[in-house]
Amino acid sequence: MTLSNLDTLSPAQIRMEATFLVHDEQTVIIRGERFRKYLTSETLNSRTLEIGQQISADYEGKKPILIGVLNGAFIFLADLMRSIQIDCEVDFLKLSSYGAQKISSGEVKELKHIDATITGRHVIVVEDIVDTGLSMEFILAKLAVDKPASLKVATLLHKFEATKVDVQLDYVGFRIKNHFVVGYGLDYGQVGRNLADIYILEEQHGEATGVK
Ligand code: IMP
Ligand code: MG
Repeated sequence: MTLSNLDTLSPAQIRMEATFLVHDEQTVIIRGERFRKYLTSETLNSRTLEIGQQISADYEGKKPILIGVLNGAFIFLADLMRSIQIDCEVDFLKLSSYGAQKISSGEVKELKHIDATITGRHVIVVEDIVDTGLSMEFILAKLAVDKPASLKVATLLHKFEATKVDVQLDYVGFRIKNHFVVGYGLDYGQVGRNLADIYILEEQHGEATGVK
């Protein structure tokens, strides 16, 4: 839904669930909260290409398996995999989500484990965002049990100021401040994953810096 004038909306319309309203080129409203464009699809794509090239060089002669963390990582993973020039495989695991909260619950549960056997394999865990780091710590501990030949992490975003546990992030797209973001696979209460760009909660936008 494209709106020429946001003021014509009733509060009830603005609170509409499971819908995002595109106000203009720069703003979306999800569950009554305004988000502003932060990282464009062009920026995301060129950085993803760089990471893909780096992985291709680092894993030359090997056949890494990318393990995507559902749901958020599926779009980044799809683009990253297509930018990798060597043989690679893919599998997925799923963790419990934030629900409709903007702050990490800190409680991690696995809802679906990988199907592949990773013993002796070169594994790259692919995430949309590392926030507190608790999910990644949990994933790495679980995968390490199967004794992969190597275990690395590629994450599109890293909220470095929010990270509570020390996890090694081998490939990081962008280091961002501790702000809530949506789009390009990332959701707010399951909404907004299909936005091509990444948006940031408006009240936080002014202070935001995206640093590589
Ligand atoms: P962590 O365990 O606190 O590092 O949380 C990581 C997970 O929380 C990510 O895989 C995301 O699914 C979700 N998450 C963290 N920050 C955001 C955000 O700003 N927007 C959307 N999802 C987020
Ligand atoms: Mg996630």
